[in-house]
Amino acid sequence: MKAIQVENPGHAYALKLAETDKPAPKAGEVLIRVAAAGLNHADISQAKGMYPPPPGASPILGMEVSGTVEALGEGVGNCEIGDEVCALIPGGGYAQYAVASSLCVLPVPKGVSLIDAAALPEVHFTVWTNLMDAARLKRGESVLIHGGSSGIGTAAIQMLSARGHKVFTTAGSAEKCAACEKLGAAKAINYREQDFVEVVKAETGGRGVDVILDMVGGDYIQRNMSAAAIWGRIVNISYQGGMQASVNFAPMLMKRLSLLATTLRARTNEEKGAIRDALLREVWPLIGEGRIKPVVDSVLPLADAQAAHARMASSAHIGKILLEA
Ligand SMILES: NC(=O)c1ccc[n+]([C@@H]2O[C@H](COP(=O)([O-])OP(=O)(O)OC[C@H]3O[C@@H](n4cnc5c(N)ncnc54)[C@H](OP(=O)(O)O)[C@@H]3O)[C@@H](O)[C@H]2O)c1
Repeated sequence: MKAIQVENPGHAYALKLAETDKPAPKAGEVLIRVAAAGLNHADISQAKGMYPPPPGASPILGMEVSGTVEALGEGVGNCEIGDEVCALIPGGGYAQYAVASSLCVLPVPKGVSLIDAAALPEVHFTVWTNLMDAARLKRGESVLIHGGSSGIGTAAIQMLSARGHKVFTTAGSAEKCAACEKLGAAKAINYREQDFVEVVKAETGGRGVDVILDMVGGDYIQRNMSAAAIWGRIVNISYQGGMQASVNFAPMLMKRLSLLATTLRARTNEEKGAIRDALLREVWPLIGEGRIKPVVDSVLPLADAQAAHARMASSAHIGKILLEA
């Protein structure tokens, strides 16, 4: 099969289409003929040699795919050959075939094309587990999503506003802010022009927000504490703005705050399966009703993976970038 290989891993990496062995599904796994793979920021880190795949995962880039089930490993009971699916995988997506644990496979929701379905798994698994499992978001609570125009952000805004939460978000341009409000954000804040702490405080009568999903870190760590309400929960999924910060922790005590952080990729298939079950129950019906849509910035051929990475690195995109196999 054809797959993307990383040549010269490091800052000057090159992504090249090459011939490699087709994977075989082990017990509990399914083989998927890939229609499309979703790009994730972590793919860039992996290509730079800074984020190795977890033990046992394919070294090929790509943490989510859509496609058609081609073969079943022993003991798989929830899929059949020919099913159109999307799946969260720990690696191997930038290829014509990929294997997935059957616990991480979801059907393509009604009304979503097979290609666009590749935009769904990583963002929804991540948003759900961080907001619901980690931050324990309760009905009616308000939320601040940093990076609203990212793949993660566009899914979070839609999922939370469809579930009745008031969503604030940050993004880096007027165009991105407009896109976020169109997706359901009550207020999108251009962080290059406005201080999100001041805007959130003004919009909530000084109260702040109950939960913050942050991918920035750095100086946002302190500022998030200022924007949080009493008993607020702040969950980091990344630290693009810096892993280190000088922080005054007094607001943690005074406001009874929780500071959380999680990653998804290294979790067990059983843990991911529990998230998959929650998504099937709570989110897939909303996608089927058209209340949550995959936000696809662009679809490029698999051979153009390098150009796709360049677009993601430029941050010009809104939503997900996909590679068509
Ligand atoms: N922990 C986990 O399990 C997990 C899982 C999936 C993703 N992630 C992380 O989540 C992040 C988003 O992933 P993605 O694949 O959706 O990437 P992406 O589409 O490339 O998004 C990155 C976003 O970060 C925003 N950003 C950068 N600096 C910002 C700032 N100072 N304030 C507000 N927003 C800022 C960018 O927006 P502007 O262009 O507007 O600046 C961009 O929208 C990545 O850092 C990724 O590593 C973590």
